Amino acid sequence: MKRKVHVISGVTGMTGNELARQLVRDGSNLVIGFDNFFASSIDSVADLIEEENFKFFEYDLNDEEQMNQIGSMVKKLGEEGMEIFYVNCAAVVHTEHFYKVENTFATNVVGMKRFLDQAIEVGARAYINCSTSEVYSMQSWNDNGGVRESDYLVLATAEHSQRTSYAVGKLLTEFFMKDAVDKGLIRGCSIRFANVYSNHELYPKHIIPHIIASLKNRGQVELLENSKRNKRSFLHNIDSCRAVLALLNVSEALDGSVYNVATDEEISIVDLVKLIGSKMGIEEPAILFAGYRASDPERRILNTDKIRQRTCWEPVVNLSRGLDMCLGIDKEKK
Ligand SMILES: NC(=O)c1ccc[n+]([C@@H]2O[C@H](COP(=O)([O-])OP(=O)(O)OC[C@H]3O[C@@H](n4cnc5c(N)ncnc54)[C@H](O)[C@@H]3O)[C@@H](O)[C@H]2O)c1
Repeated sequence: MKRKVHVISGVTGMTGNELARQLVRDGSNLVIGFDNFFASSIDSVADLIEEENFKFFEYDLNDEEQMNQIGSMVKKLGEEGMEIFYVNCAAVVHTEHFYKVENTFATNVVGMKRFLDQAIEVGARAYINCSTSEVYSMQSWNDNGGVRESDYLVLATAEHSQRTSYAVGKLLTEFFMKDAVDKGLIRGCSIRFANVYSNHELYPKHIIPHIIASLKNRGQVELLENSKRNKRSFLHNIDSCRAVLALLNVSEALDGSVYNVATDEEISIVDLVKLIGSKMGIEEPAILFAGYRASDPERRILNTDKIRQRTCWEPVVNLSRGLDMCLGIDKEKK
């Protein structure tokens, strides 16, 4: 069997670090990862850094010279007979950055495309493009089992909110991915993740760490007015990474198309606060509502039949256990 090398951009981010961990622990031959610490730190891979089959570089996806170094290194490994896989996790992601059109374009679109070109150039077998369920924008749910990959999109535009620039950029990357596969240049696919969370988020900007940090520090939580109605499902990064690996294992699934990856476990944001509060011993936590986010869908329900039918993926971390892990009270954790 050929030896494998996985090249992961944004490797210290939520998806990247857990993906590297799963690969390294499963005895993967080599993981090459890089990150510029835009939204993460070396701490998330502290347990991997000494591993022989994990190589880390503090590199920027948008730095041509640094990317050329990665390309040359990987090309050499390919010439030595290793099978190469690329996973693009680097992105300008967090809520507050969604509105920064130039940043999201440079990293999420141009950076993604250059990284894809490099994967093709070095002869990679496959490229995984991390897209987002934000592309469903104003039509993020239905009552027929959730939105499907083939559904037409109803997008908020610049008339409504600059926030959609993140989704629109990611949507464009799905076209690059499809085009490359259709031209026979590489195998690959795009994944639309929904609301990924992890035990170790560096900044309390996403909703789960925000709730935990607020309850810990102030015993109360401030939420947007939207949260009076909003419901979401949450995907633990263990499961987002298992989806990447499941897809990489099925060559026929890497047909350039798109896969929804999410859980079916929907919860209102208010109930999420109550659930986290009860796990922390705070019954009926105080919730203050302030601020409003335009063009924010009330629900986001993704149909995941496609990935479940084409691979053996299904989520294994339910919300209650995932929250226990975030709170450091998980009993099942190895
Ligand atoms: N977190 C979510 O809820 C979610 C939902 C849908 C899709 N996604 C997508 O999944 C992928 C992984 O996201 P994540 O949840 O791990 O987010 P994350 O912010 O935790 O990780 C992204 C990583 O990319 C790094 N990065 C940013 N710009 C970079 C650059 N120029 N060069 C090198 N590294 C850079 C950041 O420092 C960070 O470590 C992204 O493509 C994201 O758009 C995430």
